[in-house]
Amino acid sequence: SGVEQLGNMIAEASSIVPFTGAGISTECGIPDFRSPGGLWTRNRPIPFDEFVASQDARDESWRRRFAMEQTFAAAKPGRGHRALASLYRAGKVPGIITQNIDNLHQASGFKADDVIELHGNTTYGRCIGCGKDYELSWVKQQFDKTGSAPDCADCGDPVKTATISFGQSMPEDAMRRAAELSRHCDLFLAIGSSLVVWPAAGFPMMAKESGARLVIINNEPTDQDDIADLVIRHDIGDTLGPFVGN
Ligand code: OAD
Ligand code: ZN
Repeated sequence: SGVEQLGNMIAEASSIVPFTGAGISTECGIPDFRSPGGLWTRNRPIPFDEFVASQDARDESWRRRFAMEQTFAAAKPGRGHRALASLYRAGKVPGIITQNIDNLHQASGFKADDVIELHGNTTYGRCIGCGKDYELSWVKQQFDKTGSAPDCADCGDPVKTATISFGQSMPEDAMRRAAELSRHCDLFLAIGSSLVVWPAAGFPMMAKESGARLVIINNEPTDQDDIADLVIRHDIGDTLGPFVGN
């Protein structure tokens, strides 16, 4: 079966780089983006230029974030996160590349330095001007006090979740480190991503072109299934559950 083949590939690999998307966190109660019921089936994404230009857009963006607070605050790492953390502790995983913003890889035991966040992190806020970080509780407090999304106390520019919106530039250091990991691993695991958002979706291909074996674990077909060495079109928790160790 796929799981047995995956087990063999993991056993043979010395450097495994996981690359994750929202599908690894659905069993933790966090909806993905493009499945039925996914975030982008309910709300249109707010592009970065709109966030910058419009107080209404900023208010709407923060209202959506506050509406998700219980979901994010209550979420615990799932079987997929725990399996990857086990491989990390075993010394097989030098770092993990994620499109996710939910902080669950860190919560599962990865050192923050070893989690390459391509699309940032939604568990805190950040000024889009000077980069100062803010706790969400501060943002909420300001929002409740004034009825709208706050600006930075230092520089006056808007505060956003520390995530990357469409139209916002990618974090350079994360992009560089993700490329490095992709080029130097011998097994690359693309897990729970539709692989439609670029440049993130370029990393599985980059790893494959650099000589790694590529495994894709996802419920739905992706555009890169045809270059993968193994495609497992099943539930992530069920597939990775057997690899949860100590
Ligand atoms: P998507 O919602 O596009 O894709 C998630 C994939 O996971 C889908 O193909 C699902 O079928 C699959 N999936 C969900 N639950 C699963 C499960 N339990 N087992 C197996 N497969 C499952 O999410 P991403 O690919 O992460 O970026 O989206 C990429 C980016 O688009 C996000 O980082 C975000 C979004 O817009 C930005 O906002 C910049
Ligand atoms: Zn600032």
